[in-house]
Amino acid sequence: MRKVGVLGAGLMGSGIAEVCAKAGYDTVVREVSEDLVKKGLSRIEGSLSKAVDKGKLAAADRDVAWKRISSTTRLEDLADCDIVIEAIIENLDVKKETYAALDRICKPATIFCSNTSSLTITEMSAATQRADRFAGLHFFNPVPVMKLVEVVRTISTSDETASAVFEFARSLGKEPIRTHDNSGFIVNRLLVPYLLDAVRALEEGVGTREDIDKGMELGCGHPMGPLKLLDFVGLDTTYAIAEIMFDEYREKRFAAPPLLKRMVLAGRYGRKSGRGFYEYGG
Ligand code: 3HC
Repeated sequence: MRKVGVLGAGLMGSGIAEVCAKAGYDTVVREVSEDLVKKGLSRIEGSLSKAVDKGKLAAADRDVAWKRISSTTRLEDLADCDIVIEAIIENLDVKKETYAALDRICKPATIFCSNTSSLTITEMSAATQRADRFAGLHFFNPVPVMKLVEVVRTISTSDETASAVFEFARSLGKEPIRTHDNSGFIVNRLLVPYLLDAVRALEEGVGTREDIDKGMELGCGHPMGPLKLLDFVGLDTTYAIAEIMFDEYREKRFAAPPLLKRMVLAGRYGRKSGRGFYEYGG
Protein backbone atom coordinates (compact mmCIF):
# COMPACT_ATOMS: atom_id res chain seq x y z
CA MET A 1 0.00 0.00 0.00
CA ARG A 2 1.34 3.42 -0.93
CA LYS A 3 -1.56 5.69 -1.64
CA VAL A 4 -4.56 6.18 0.65
CA GLY A 5 -7.83 7.89 -0.17
CA VAL A 6 -9.91 9.35 2.64
CA LEU A 7 -13.55 10.17 1.95
CA GLY A 8 -14.79 12.92 4.24
CA ALA A 9 -12.71 15.52 6.06
CA GLY A 10 -14.84 15.93 9.15
CA LEU A 11 -13.60 15.18 12.65
CA MET A 12 -12.88 11.50 11.90
CA GLY A 13 -11.81 11.83 8.26
CA SER A 14 -9.30 14.59 8.94
CA GLY A 15 -7.85 12.60 11.86
CA ILE A 16 -7.56 9.49 9.67
CA ALA A 17 -5.85 11.48 6.89
CA GLU A 18 -3.40 12.96 9.40
CA VAL A 19 -2.51 9.54 10.81
CA CYS A 20 -2.00 8.08 7.29
CA ALA A 21 0.23 10.96 6.19
CA LYS A 22 2.29 10.74 9.40
CA ALA A 23 2.78 7.02 8.71
CA GLY A 24 4.29 7.82 5.30
CA TYR A 25 1.34 7.27 2.93
CA ASP A 26 0.50 9.64 0.12
CA THR A 27 -2.96 10.69 1.22
CA VAL A 28 -5.72 12.26 -0.83
CA VAL A 29 -8.69 13.66 1.06
CA ARG A 30 -12.00 14.13 -0.70
CA GLU A 31 -14.85 16.35 0.48
CA VAL A 32 -18.01 17.38 -1.33
CA SER A 33 -17.27 21.14 -1.45
CA GLU A 34 -14.24 23.43 -1.48
CA ASP A 35 -15.42 24.95 1.78
CA LEU A 36 -15.44 21.55 3.53
CA VAL A 37 -12.04 20.71 2.02
CA LYS A 38 -10.66 23.95 3.47
CA LYS A 39 -12.15 23.25 6.92
CA GLY A 40 -10.76 19.70 6.92
CA LEU A 41 -7.27 20.80 5.92
CA SER A 42 -7.21 23.49 8.58
CA ARG A 43 -8.26 20.89 11.18
CA ILE A 44 -5.37 18.64 10.08
CA GLU A 45 -2.92 21.54 10.14
CA GLY A 46 -4.08 22.48 13.66
CA SER A 47 -3.75 18.93 14.96
CA LEU A 48 -0.28 18.43 13.42
CA SER A 49 0.86 21.66 15.07
CA LYS A 50 -0.66 20.57 18.38
CA ALA A 51 1.31 17.31 18.12
CA VAL A 52 4.49 19.36 17.62
CA ASP A 53 3.61 21.61 20.59
CA LYS A 54 2.99 18.52 22.75
CA GLY A 55 6.39 17.09 21.78
CA LYS A 56 4.80 14.12 19.93
CA LEU A 57 6.08 15.09 16.49
CA ALA A 58 9.21 16.83 15.20
CA ALA A 59 8.53 20.02 13.26
CA ALA A 60 10.37 18.57 10.24
CA ASP A 61 8.14 15.44 10.33
CA ARG A 62 5.05 17.64 10.49
CA ASP A 63 6.19 19.42 7.32
CA VAL A 64 6.84 16.11 5.51
CA ALA A 65 3.45 14.72 6.58
CA TRP A 66 1.68 17.89 5.49
CA LYS A 67 3.27 17.67 2.03
CA ARG A 68 1.96 14.10 1.64
CA ILE A 69 -1.65 15.32 1.90
CA SER A 70 -3.55 16.46 -1.16
CA SER A 71 -7.23 17.33 -1.40
CA THR A 72 -10.01 17.19 -3.94
CA THR A 73 -13.76 17.39 -4.43
CA ARG A 74 -13.64 14.77 -7.24
CA LEU A 75 -14.06 11.04 -6.59
CA GLU A 76 -12.02 10.44 -9.79
CA ASP A 77 -8.89 11.61 -7.99
CA LEU A 78 -9.06 8.47 -5.81
CA ALA A 79 -8.84 6.15 -8.85
CA ASP A 80 -5.32 4.86 -8.19
CA CYS A 81 -5.51 4.61 -4.39
CA ASP A 82 -4.51 1.26 -2.87
CA ILE A 83 -7.01 1.68 -0.04
CA VAL A 84 -9.91 4.07 0.46
CA ILE A 85 -11.20 4.82 3.95
CA GLU A 86 -14.66 6.32 4.06
CA ALA A 87 -15.68 8.60 6.92
CA ILE A 88 -18.64 10.48 5.45
CA ILE A 89 -22.08 11.16 6.91
CA GLU A 90 -23.65 8.16 8.72
CA ASN A 91 -26.38 7.68 6.14
CA LEU A 92 -26.55 4.26 4.51
CA ASP A 93 -28.11 5.47 1.25
CA VAL A 94 -25.47 8.18 0.77
CA LYS A 95 -22.71 5.69 1.58
CA LYS A 96 -24.07 3.08 -0.84
CA GLU A 97 -24.36 5.66 -3.62
CA THR A 98 -20.79 6.87 -2.99
CA TYR A 99 -19.38 3.32 -2.94
CA ALA A 100 -21.21 2.37 -6.14
CA ALA A 101 -19.67 5.39 -7.89
CA LEU A 102 -16.24 4.75 -6.42
CA ASP A 103 -16.40 1.10 -7.47
CA ARG A 104 -16.63 2.19 -11.12
CA ILE A 105 -13.71 4.62 -10.68
CA CYS A 106 -11.08 2.79 -8.58
CA LYS A 107 -8.70 0.16 -9.88
CA PRO A 108 -9.89 -3.40 -9.20
CA ALA A 109 -7.30 -4.03 -6.46
CA THR A 110 -8.32 -1.06 -4.32
CA ILE A 111 -9.59 -2.08 -0.89
CA PHE A 112 -12.60 -0.18 0.45
CA CYS A 113 -12.93 0.42 4.21
CA SER A 114 -15.71 2.14 6.10
CA ASN A 115 -15.16 3.96 9.38
CA THR A 116 -18.85 3.59 10.25
CA SER A 117 -19.51 3.06 13.95
CA SER A 118 -22.76 1.12 13.65
CA LEU A 119 -24.17 0.89 10.11
CA THR A 120 -24.07 -2.43 8.25
CA ILE A 121 -20.84 -2.80 6.31
CA THR A 122 -22.23 -5.86 4.52
CA GLU A 123 -24.96 -3.71 2.97
CA MET A 124 -22.45 -1.07 1.83
CA SER A 125 -20.23 -3.72 0.27
CA ALA A 126 -23.22 -5.17 -1.61
CA ALA A 127 -23.46 -1.87 -3.51
CA THR A 128 -20.10 -2.73 -5.14
CA GLN A 129 -18.63 -5.56 -7.19
CA ARG A 130 -15.81 -5.98 -4.65
CA ALA A 131 -17.47 -7.27 -1.47
CA ASP A 132 -14.41 -9.51 -0.98
CA ARG A 133 -12.19 -6.40 -0.87
CA PHE A 134 -14.39 -4.53 1.58
CA ALA A 135 -13.99 -4.24 5.36
CA GLY A 136 -14.59 -1.94 8.30
CA LEU A 137 -11.81 0.14 9.82
CA HIS A 138 -13.23 1.88 12.85
CA PHE A 139 -11.10 4.60 14.44
CA PHE A 140 -11.69 6.38 17.76
CA ASN A 141 -11.95 10.04 18.58
CA PRO A 142 -9.50 11.82 18.77
CA VAL A 143 -7.99 9.73 15.97
CA PRO A 144 -4.38 10.95 16.29
CA VAL A 145 -4.37 10.11 20.01
CA MET A 146 -6.46 6.93 20.45
CA LYS A 147 -4.42 3.78 19.83
CA LEU A 148 -7.27 1.43 18.96
CA VAL A 149 -8.68 0.53 15.56
CA GLU A 150 -11.38 -2.10 15.02
CA VAL A 151 -10.87 -4.21 11.89
CA VAL A 152 -14.29 -5.47 10.87
CA ARG A 153 -14.94 -8.46 8.58
CA THR A 154 -18.19 -9.09 6.80
CA ILE A 155 -19.25 -12.56 5.68
CA SER A 156 -17.87 -11.64 2.24
CA THR A 157 -14.48 -10.15 3.24
CA SER A 158 -11.64 -12.35 1.96
CA ASP A 159 -8.85 -13.58 4.23
CA GLU A 160 -6.34 -11.58 2.15
CA THR A 161 -8.31 -8.36 2.60
CA ALA A 162 -8.79 -8.93 6.34
CA SER A 163 -5.08 -9.45 6.91
CA ALA A 164 -4.05 -6.61 4.56
CA VAL A 165 -6.32 -4.20 6.46
CA PHE A 166 -5.06 -5.47 9.82
CA GLU A 167 -1.43 -4.93 8.75
CA PHE A 168 -2.32 -1.53 7.30
CA ALA A 169 -3.80 -0.49 10.67
CA ARG A 170 -0.59 -1.62 12.37
CA SER A 171 1.50 0.36 9.90
CA LEU A 172 -0.38 3.47 11.08
CA GLY A 173 1.02 2.87 14.58
CA LYS A 174 -2.38 1.71 15.85
CA GLU A 175 -3.33 -1.38 17.85
CA PRO A 176 -5.91 -3.24 15.74
CA ILE A 177 -8.46 -5.72 17.09
CA ARG A 178 -10.55 -8.10 14.97
CA THR A 179 -14.33 -8.20 15.01
CA HIS A 180 -17.35 -9.04 12.85
CA ASP A 181 -19.96 -6.88 11.18
CA ASN A 182 -22.44 -6.67 14.04
CA SER A 183 -23.80 -3.22 14.86
CA GLY A 184 -21.44 -1.44 17.28
CA PHE A 185 -18.67 -4.04 16.85
CA ILE A 186 -16.84 -4.58 20.17
CA VAL A 187 -16.35 -1.13 21.66
CA ASN A 188 -19.67 0.59 20.96
CA ARG A 189 -21.55 -2.57 21.89
CA LEU A 190 -20.14 -2.17 25.40
CA LEU A 191 -19.74 1.62 25.50
CA VAL A 192 -23.14 2.74 24.22
CA PRO A 193 -25.29 0.92 26.86
CA TYR A 194 -22.94 2.33 29.53
CA LEU A 195 -23.35 5.89 28.23
CA LEU A 196 -27.13 5.47 27.98
CA ASP A 197 -27.20 4.14 31.55
CA ALA A 198 -25.34 7.23 32.73
CA VAL A 199 -28.10 9.39 31.22
CA ARG A 200 -30.72 7.19 32.95
CA ALA A 201 -28.84 7.59 36.24
CA LEU A 202 -28.96 11.38 35.83
CA GLU A 203 -32.65 11.22 34.88
CA GLU A 204 -33.42 9.16 37.97
CA GLY A 205 -31.45 11.49 40.25
CA VAL A 206 -28.87 8.88 41.26
CA GLY A 207 -26.27 11.66 41.37
CA THR A 208 -25.37 15.06 39.94
CA ARG A 209 -23.63 15.24 36.54
CA GLU A 210 -20.37 16.05 38.36
CA ASP A 211 -20.67 13.14 40.77
CA ILE A 212 -21.61 10.62 38.07
CA ASP A 213 -18.54 11.67 36.09
CA LYS A 214 -16.26 11.84 39.11
CA GLY A 215 -17.45 8.38 40.14
CA MET A 216 -16.26 6.78 36.93
CA GLU A 217 -13.10 8.90 36.63
CA LEU A 218 -11.81 8.33 40.13
CA GLY A 219 -13.55 5.02 40.88
CA CYS A 220 -12.69 3.27 37.63
CA GLY A 221 -9.80 5.29 36.23
CA HIS A 222 -11.63 6.45 33.12
CA PRO A 223 -10.05 9.56 31.52
CA MET A 224 -13.52 11.11 31.21
CA GLY A 225 -16.76 10.37 33.03
CA PRO A 226 -19.69 9.19 30.85
CA LEU A 227 -21.49 12.54 30.61
CA LYS A 228 -18.29 14.37 29.64
CA LEU A 229 -17.61 11.63 27.11
CA LEU A 230 -21.12 12.03 25.69
CA ASP A 231 -20.46 15.75 25.24
CA PHE A 232 -17.13 14.88 23.60
CA VAL A 233 -18.49 12.27 21.18
CA GLY A 234 -21.66 14.31 20.51
CA LEU A 235 -25.13 13.62 21.88
CA ASP A 236 -26.57 13.60 18.36
CA THR A 237 -23.95 11.06 17.25
CA THR A 238 -24.55 8.81 20.25
CA TYR A 239 -28.32 9.07 19.82
CA ALA A 240 -28.02 8.06 16.16
CA ILE A 241 -25.76 5.10 17.06
CA ALA A 242 -28.17 3.99 19.80
CA GLU A 243 -31.10 4.10 17.37
CA ILE A 244 -29.23 1.92 14.87
CA MET A 245 -28.14 -0.54 17.56
CA PHE A 246 -31.65 -0.72 19.02
CA ASP A 247 -32.98 -1.41 15.57
CA GLU A 248 -30.46 -4.23 15.13
CA TYR A 249 -30.74 -5.94 18.54
CA ARG A 250 -34.20 -4.83 19.81
CA GLU A 251 -32.81 -4.80 23.34
CA LYS A 252 -33.71 -2.24 25.97
CA ARG A 253 -30.09 -1.56 26.86
CA PHE A 254 -29.63 0.10 23.45
CA ALA A 255 -32.78 2.25 23.75
CA ALA A 256 -32.04 5.97 24.01
CA PRO A 257 -33.47 7.44 27.23
CA PRO A 258 -36.02 10.29 26.84
CA LEU A 259 -33.60 12.87 28.28
CA LEU A 260 -31.01 12.13 25.60
CA LYS A 261 -33.62 12.45 22.86
CA ARG A 262 -34.87 15.74 24.25
CA MET A 263 -31.37 17.19 24.56
CA VAL A 264 -30.74 16.33 20.92
CA LEU A 265 -34.09 17.86 19.91
CA ALA A 266 -33.10 21.00 21.82
CA GLY A 267 -29.82 21.22 19.90
CA ARG A 268 -27.67 20.41 22.92
CA TYR A 269 -25.19 18.22 21.09
CA GLY A 270 -22.27 18.67 23.50
CA ARG A 271 -18.98 20.40 22.76
CA LYS A 272 -19.73 20.91 19.09
CA SER A 273 -22.79 23.09 19.82
CA GLY A 274 -21.40 24.74 22.96
CA ARG A 275 -23.80 22.96 25.32
CA GLY A 276 -24.57 19.39 26.31
CA PHE A 277 -24.52 18.08 29.85
CA TYR A 278 -21.98 20.87 30.46
CA GLU A 279 -21.55 24.35 29.01
CA TYR A 280 -18.58 25.21 26.79
CA GLY A 281 -17.70 28.88 26.52
CA GLY A 282 -16.55 30.12 23.11
N1 3HC B 1 -1.42 14.40 18.06
C1 3HC B 1 -0.74 13.48 18.78
N2 3HC B 1 -0.82 13.39 20.13
C2 3HC B 1 -1.58 14.30 20.77
C3 3HC B 1 -2.31 15.28 20.07
C4 3HC B 1 -2.21 15.31 18.66
N3 3HC B 1 -2.86 16.19 17.92
N4 3HC B 1 -3.00 16.01 20.97
C5 3HC B 1 -2.73 15.49 22.17
N5 3HC B 1 -1.88 14.46 22.06
C6 3HC B 1 -1.40 13.59 23.14
C7 3HC B 1 -0.79 14.39 24.28
O1 3HC B 1 0.58 14.63 24.07
C8 3HC B 1 -1.01 13.44 25.44
O2 3HC B 1 -0.06 12.39 25.44
P1 3HC B 1 0.67 11.90 26.80
O3 3HC B 1 -0.47 11.43 27.67
O4 3HC B 1 1.59 10.82 26.35
O5 3HC B 1 1.34 13.12 27.31
C9 3HC B 1 -2.37 12.80 25.13
O6 3HC B 1 -2.50 12.91 23.72
C10 3HC B 1 -3.52 13.47 25.85
O7 3HC B 1 -3.61 14.82 25.40
P2 3HC B 1 -3.94 16.07 26.32
O8 3HC B 1 -3.05 16.12 27.53
O9 3HC B 1 -3.94 17.29 25.47
O10 3HC B 1 -5.43 15.87 26.72
P3 3HC B 1 -6.05 15.09 27.94
O11 3HC B 1 -5.06 14.49 28.85
O12 3HC B 1 -7.05 16.05 28.47
O13 3HC B 1 -6.79 13.87 27.18
C11 3HC B 1 -8.32 12.78 25.74
C12 3HC B 1 -7.75 14.13 26.20
C13 3HC B 1 -7.26 12.02 24.98
C14 3HC B 1 -9.48 13.11 24.82
C15 3HC B 1 -8.75 11.97 27.00
O14 3HC B 1 -9.60 12.73 27.79
C16 3HC B 1 -9.43 10.68 26.63
O15 3HC B 1 -8.80 9.68 26.33
N6 3HC B 1 -10.80 10.71 26.66
C17 3HC B 1 -11.60 9.56 26.27
C18 3HC B 1 -11.72 9.55 24.77
C19 3HC B 1 -12.51 8.38 24.30
O16 3HC B 1 -13.02 7.57 25.04
N7 3HC B 1 -12.63 8.30 22.97
C20 3HC B 1 -13.40 7.28 22.33
C21 3HC B 1 -14.76 7.81 22.07
S1 3HC B 1 -15.83 6.60 21.39
C22 3HC B 1 -15.52 6.69 19.74
O17 3HC B 1 -14.75 7.48 19.26
C23 3HC B 1 -16.27 5.70 18.90
C24 3HC B 1 -17.30 6.36 18.05
O18 3HC B 1 -17.83 5.39 17.18
C25 3HC B 1 -18.39 7.00 18.84
